[in-house]
Amino acid sequence: MRSLRTGLSLAALVAAVAALFAAPAAHAGDTPLRDLAAAKGKVIGTAVTGSKLTGTYGDIAGAQFNSLTPGNAMKWGSVEPTQGTFNWAEADQIVAFAQAHNQQVRGHTLVWHSQNPSWLTNGTWTSAQLGSLLQNHISTEVGRYKGEIAAWDVVNEPFNEDGTYRSTLWYNGLGADYIANALTWARAADPDAKLYINDYNVEGVNAKSTALYNLVKDLKSRGVPIDGVGLQAHLVLGQVPSTLQQNIQRFADLGVDVAITELDVRMALPSDSTKLAQQAADYKSVLAACVAVTRCAGVTVWGFTDSDSWVPSTFPGYGAATPYDENYAPKPAYYAIAQALGGTQSTDGCSATYSVTSQWNTGFTGQVTIACSGTSLSSWTASWSFGAGQQITQAWNATCTQSGSAVSCANASYNGSVPSGGSVTFGFNGSWSGSNPLPTVTLG
Ligand code: XIL
Repeated sequence: MRSLRTGLSLAALVAAVAALFAAPAAHAGDTPLRDLAAAKGKVIGTAVTGSKLTGTYGDIAGAQFNSLTPGNAMKWGSVEPTQGTFNWAEADQIVAFAQAHNQQVRGHTLVWHSQNPSWLTNGTWTSAQLGSLLQNHISTEVGRYKGEIAAWDVVNEPFNEDGTYRSTLWYNGLGADYIANALTWARAADPDAKLYINDYNVEGVNAKSTALYNLVKDLKSRGVPIDGVGLQAHLVLGQVPSTLQQNIQRFADLGVDVAITELDVRMALPSDSTKLAQQAADYKSVLAACVAVTRCAGVTVWGFTDSDSWVPSTFPGYGAATPYDENYAPKPAYYAIAQALGGTQSTDGCSATYSVTSQWNTGFTGQVTIACSGTSLSSWTASWSFGAGQQITQAWNATCTQSGSAVSCANASYNGSVPSGGSVTFGFNGSWSGSNPLPTVTLG
């Protein structure tokens, strides 16, 4: 008994010490993204690597997201590296983690031209052989996880940029109907999973997304099981398509769900506070477009930390594409996601300091510095009340409005982001008479 008690208290101590280091303090008080998303009836997901699901990576993946997508673990090359020899270890691990954390799983992906096993791509197959290989693959994989997968990316990246079918093992060997057949086989193996076609550069209205639109319309009219379209959304900083919401809506109007399945926003390295602010704005507008359309099921980020992103190795010179930095500190993009999901930004840890930098007979120049430590902001408003009739005449690096004595200054487009350990300053000219006392600034 005694040793058991000692053991327990030691374990508790270890757990308490571990908790101290588990999650960055900046993060502790925020409402988890998954709770914000759930309140809006949306999914917020992340791609994950199974072997990393411990420590801080596992804590954040479990606490912040209500859906997981295996980044690689369910691809054909991962699950059947040698014909007839299966390796489900990482996929099983991710599914078990998701179930333990009350998360959905997005299965990714069954039919693709990439990351296939070499025995498959190097083989010589008749059309009939290829068809039965594909059917077996789908039946085996979907069947294994029957009832455990919310949605499958059944077909991945079937189109070229001009909207013609991509020339692949599948299209060349089986014709365009490989898509309808794959969907039909997937439905047979798990009638409860939502079945998606997923592609990139289909976020806005363009030739490729219109081809996808026409395909979905055709599949629907033929009674082929298709439940949704996945817009990958591997975006470049500042280039969220202006037609994103319109495009989501047109698919929804066809009677299918839409999911943003692989969101990241890459920037030329190194990152700086201006780029991080733009990135926050980009994340916010993608999330907002999904929130605005009822049939948009949710958004999955393609890795939640810059330390586990495919971007740097795939797009040399680019990176910093996810909502958390390499040390698991939330970036402005994290707070932008939270805000788009209806969260309110905490300004705890940030302060605003008002000063008069010069003053003459009727006028003065003032400035406000907003500084954060241990937390960061993706946008800000500084407000105060002038106590002696002062009046702002002109402001810079902020948009200020004054009504009576009440002043409210909002960030400019380029300085909403205040990183932890950083600061932003804006200034203004004003008039005064009699006295010019310093007001107290409130941050919102
Ligand atoms: C990427 C993975 O993130 C990388 O680890 C891997 O080396 C290549 O594939 N579109 C998709 C994803 O549908 O499966 C890809 O994932 C990224 C592009």
